[in-house]
Amino acid sequence: MGQRPATPRELAHVLRACRHLCVLTGAGMSAESGIPTFRAAQTGLWERYDPLELATPEAFARDPELVWRWYSWRRELVAAATPNPGHFALARLACLLPRLTLITQNVDGLHQKAGSRTVIEFHGNLFANRCSVEGRLVEDDVVIENGIPCCPRCGARLRPGVVWFGEAIPPAALAAAADAAADCDLFLSIGTSALVWPAAGLAESTRAAGARVAEINPAETGLSAACDFRLAGNSGEVLPELVNCLS
Ligand code: OAD
Repeated sequence: MGQRPATPRELAHVLRACRHLCVLTGAGMSAESGIPTFRAAQTGLWERYDPLELATPEAFARDPELVWRWYSWRRELVAAATPNPGHFALARLACLLPRLTLITQNVDGLHQKAGSRTVIEFHGNLFANRCSVEGRLVEDDVVIENGIPCCPRCGARLRPGVVWFGEAIPPAALAAAADAAADCDLFLSIGTSALVWPAAGLAESTRAAGARVAEINPAETGLSAACDFRLAGNSGEVLPELVNCLS
């Protein structure tokens, strides 16, 4: 079946027979919470920086203080953000279906704030700190040296607990997401440009398993042509409508 425009009512009809729904969200999910999407222009002080040049191990090695200033700015931005109706609708949807696996590329923690209990954080979490030498997550109080947090155990610089460009996805997250994409009977991609792998490839394993793919996005993406259902719209509007049709 080729891509065809669908309505929330039609997708709700499909969801009623759904045994396992696998959802992948991207930055568009948080756009209506005021967090700029990854490929939207950066604002203010950071306008001249391209995230692709800051969110890399090379940038951190070259100028850790600059990278920490950027992440501190993003942490402030995200800490002030609240979940939007789309986040709350997804949390509600999990209660209406037999099984929903939520995979997010976002690092803002808004799904959890909206009440989603099990969230596969494919690209880590903005507020986590990891030791740059030991690799472990560090939750204790950190020592700040020249504006850079350091590991209380070994003294090495800490880094934000997010996946940088060129880095591997946390193995547990990758395995859980791949299993869910292959097992589900519907894959729903929401608010992602479907450009960054391996997240962008998850829908393919759903299709390879003979299951269907749906997308919620105001714009076309690399996934749109392969979708069985495409709902053109903002997730903060479409998802609550979808949940209303199901309730
Ligand atoms: P992008 O900025 O690439 O894409 C955001 C998508 O959201 C676009 O397709 C928009 O059309 C869509 N969008 C915008 N507003 C929306 C709304 N209100 N409702 C629904 N969709 C909306 O962000 P991502 O696809 O998430 O990876 O980017 C994927 C990854 O690229 C990020 O996780 C990050 C980046 O490299 C890492 O940091 C490793």
